[in-house]
Amino acid sequence: MSYLELLDVSFSYPNGFEATRNVSLRFELGEAVAIIGQNGAGKTTTVKLMNGLLRPTKGQVKIAGQTTSQLTTAQMAQHVGYVFQNPDDQIFQETIEKEIAFGPKNQKLPAEDVAKRVADAAAFCGLTEVLAEHPYNLPYSKRKFITIAAVMAMDPEVVILDEPTAGQDRESTELLGRLIQELVKRNKAVITITHDMEFVVNEFQKVLVFADKELRKVGTPRKIFWDDALLTFSALKQPYICQLAKALGLRDVLTMDELGKQVGR
Ligand SMILES: Nc1ncnc2c1ncn2[C@@H]1O[C@H](COP(=O)(O)OP(=O)(O)OP(=O)(O)O)[C@@H](O)[C@H]1O
Ligand SMILES: [Mg+2]
Repeated sequence: MSYLELLDVSFSYPNGFEATRNVSLRFELGEAVAIIGQNGAGKTTTVKLMNGLLRPTKGQVKIAGQTTSQLTTAQMAQHVGYVFQNPDDQIFQETIEKEIAFGPKNQKLPAEDVAKRVADAAAFCGLTEVLAEHPYNLPYSKRKFITIAAVMAMDPEVVILDEPTAGQDRESTELLGRLIQELVKRNKAVITITHDMEFVVNEFQKVLVFADKELRKVGTPRKIFWDDALLTFSALKQPYICQLAKALGLRDVLTMDELGKQVGR
């Protein structure tokens, strides 16, 4: 049994607009999965269905085998943490420490455990030195790490990161990569929406492609980024290294190393 399942799920917004259609998916603990797709493809809508921020208009969401229609959003959020696409939709406390402590405090953990959770999450997200600051004293890209730390501090089994790479420099992108691998080591399921194709190649073995409201393909980066018909249909770009390989008349290349070997042959 998979930890998190979507069974033929569709969702229409109250204005009648259907944003995601007939999606079936399963996620295991200890795996990192990337979600890619054009703007408006339905990525955010789909992941919001996983933690109860939105409820399916058709189909079922199951957590640990249990259907979630009877669970409150707060109950679902204990198991599935969602880091918002826009950090400013999530942040509401006046210090970074309070923001990170809010979740574990709400879980009624003893003060000592709350402090441990905050220290651990802050250390991981590079926030230890700025805990006393107002969240808005940090730039947008760093505010994203506050919201990641706040979700980590709740210790959910599933962590969903909605475009964590947007606006991040190389160093922060590498930190995000380490963070995802650490969460996997802690046996979490990590679901990451991103438009950074290099990040996908570097950090993930499993990729989901959304296009025009539907899940179009699940596969390894190599399978996804060398599927010409899929990329055209989904209006997705290959990572630069694949573009270079293609220009040289090569196929199925994913890394510099592989490119070097193929060219050297
Ligand atoms: N509250 C809403 N009411 C009506 N339509 C909405 C609402 N929120 C989103 N949509 C529409 O649903 C579609 C899917 O949106 P969604 O945010 O899931 O896309 P996305 O794949 O996450 O895109 P992006 O990469 O831009 O974040 C879009 O056409 C969007 O305009
Ligand atoms: Mg989105």
